[in-house]
Amino acid sequence: MAILDHHKKIETHATLLLVLSFLVVTIGGLVQIVPLFYLENTIEEVEGMRPYSPLELAGREIYVREGCYVCHSQMVRPMRDEVERYGPYSLAAESMYDHPFQWGSKRTGPDLARLGGRYSDEWHVAHMTNPRDVVPESVMPTYGYLLHRPIDGRYITDLMSTYRLLGVPYTDDMIAAAHDDFTAQADPEADHAALLERYHDAQTRNFDGQPELTEMDALISYMQMIGTLVDRSTFVRDASR
Ligand code: HEC
Repeated sequence: MAILDHHKKIETHATLLLVLSFLVVTIGGLVQIVPLFYLENTIEEVEGMRPYSPLELAGREIYVREGCYVCHSQMVRPMRDEVERYGPYSLAAESMYDHPFQWGSKRTGPDLARLGGRYSDEWHVAHMTNPRDVVPESVMPTYGYLLHRPIDGRYITDLMSTYRLLGVPYTDDMIAAAHDDFTAQADPEADHAALLERYHDAQTRNFDGQPELTEMDALISYMQMIGTLVDRSTFVRDASR
């Protein structure tokens, strides 16, 4: 057939094949890339996502420092087995304030994207102190020392300013109140009205059950928040995409 003869010509001329391949890849690339320049935002808007509170942010820093992402992902993929095991699949907006993101690349332990509210604070303290006490076959390392590491948040204002530089919309008000909010969240006696105004649905209590404010408080406040912010009832999948 004539068309196959033409193709034979291409296949037997290395230079021609190279030039035509390059052309095809260029056109394909442009078709994929150019529309992105005209989109204001590639993240679907959802209700409820907010920047992390100072204590949650400090907890996230500990999560990153301890390398939890080496064994845990934070992304439920939109596949049936994942959704049935972990809960609703993750949305892009849910990691929009994560720098760097914590999607992970390996699951030695389970995905944590829907961790918030799954266990009690007491369970977390026991599990972090010795995972084998609650899950006998666990290979997770122990992190009990977090209970003995007090934090005072002296760096929290700088940390939040840095995140603002990276695009997280912390307001001047949030940054000015950072240190107060940091200590108030884990103090059941504190007045939480202003904190809740700034960070809706922030959970306020003594997370690790001991009087001192420790890294365990920060980590648990972070873990209990993961995956709980977005109001999924307001999320409508855009069928045209
Ligand atoms: C060496 C790999 C490893 C590291 C590092 C690791 N984990 Fe785990 N994690 C596991 C395994 C395995 C499990 C499942 C058994 C269990 O529950 O202990 C698990 C379970 C968990 C669970 C229970 C999840 C669920 O849905 O049941 C939480 C919460 C958790 N890890 C948090 C953390 C945090 C926070 C860190 C960092 C401070 C961390 N892990 C570091 C391996 C790891």
